[in-house]
Amino acid sequence: SESTIILGIESSCDDTSAAIIQGNKILSNIAANQQIHNDYGGVVPELASRAHQQNIIPVVQKSLVEANIQQNDIAAIGFTRGPGLLGSLLVGTSFAKSLAMSLEVPLIEVNHLQAHILAHFIEDANPVPPKFPFLCLTVSGGHTMIVLVKDYFNMKIIGKTTDDAAGEAFDKIGKIFGLDYPAGPIVDRLAKEGDPNSFKFNKPRLENYDYSFSGVKTSVLYFIQKEIRKNPDFINKNLNNLCASVQKTIIEVLMEKLEKAAEDYGIKEVAIAGGVSANSGLRKAMEENAAKLGWNIYIPKFEYTTDNAAMIAMVAKLKYERGEFSDLSVSATARYDL
Ligand code: KG4
Ligand code: ZN
Repeated sequence: SESTIILGIESSCDDTSAAIIQGNKILSNIAANQQIHNDYGGVVPELASRAHQQNIIPVVQKSLVEANIQQNDIAAIGFTRGPGLLGSLLVGTSFAKSLAMSLEVPLIEVNHLQAHILAHFIEDANPVPPKFPFLCLTVSGGHTMIVLVKDYFNMKIIGKTTDDAAGEAFDKIGKIFGLDYPAGPIVDRLAKEGDPNSFKFNKPRLENYDYSFSGVKTSVLYFIQKEIRKNPDFINKNLNNLCASVQKTIIEVLMEKLEKAAEDYGIKEVAIAGGVSANSGLRKAMEENAAKLGWNIYIPKFEYTTDNAAMIAMVAKLKYERGEFSDLSVSATARYDL
């Protein structure tokens, strides 16, 4: 029912998160971000898993306190079963299983990618939720895909990256510029002060709705290496313009395929999801297409775009209504298809 309270737990990568949902309303959404990886220029799986172990109890505790509920109010526990880093997933999975056992409530496994998409149905994610069927461009550090969403649990990937994810491209190119990890949000911020038409980088030419970003990265790398030979201070002198040009290239690549899919499928309901949907240039491009092509666009509230447990709790709620529970013998899985 709409008063059912569910706990969601997310630990697939480097954020330990717990959230409480009641109906479609999020009562709390707590995350402990692991700063430790920044020194290494990327997520170190072994460190991530250890940090999850340290964070999980305080994060879950805090989610209960902030929602102003007791353990015994929880009707079910949803957790991210995959995809993600196995060592990280194991921490959330084991914790969810033990707690479900001790509270004697159902356990509900959640697919992290489905959760990024279904986050759109959280009460305050959008002014109105998307209508089926809709297209969802799911763009994160690990994934880049166009998903045709026919119903809550009837989704089809119609295009995906053949190499790097879009977030990974932002992060790797940012690293070439000497930016900290994750570079995506920094590139976004610096791009605002730069001219996006300063530099031109190669764009992939792929058939259908698939993506490729490794070519963009290589094109940037060679260009930088060439310029640095002439002027060692090239990056410093041009950082804002470089970021703006890279961001423009990545967004154009993302949008061209999304536009093609929307046209071919005759769909005007278009959503974005995942960490990269926080990107201001991508948001602007979506808004331009709403005006130009008559799209109804759905861009979730920022806190529901990056990895978070609110989206896990949302999927758990939908599965709870359908009576889709997991056995206590369920195990985490690094690969988990939509
Ligand atoms: O969804 P997410 O939190 O984690 C994964 O499941 O991967 O996405 C993280 C990714 C990182 O690559 C990060 O650089 C990127 O999202 N990101 C951004 C922005 N905010 C986060 N990329 C570009 N612009 C942003 N504003
Ligand atoms: Zn994610």
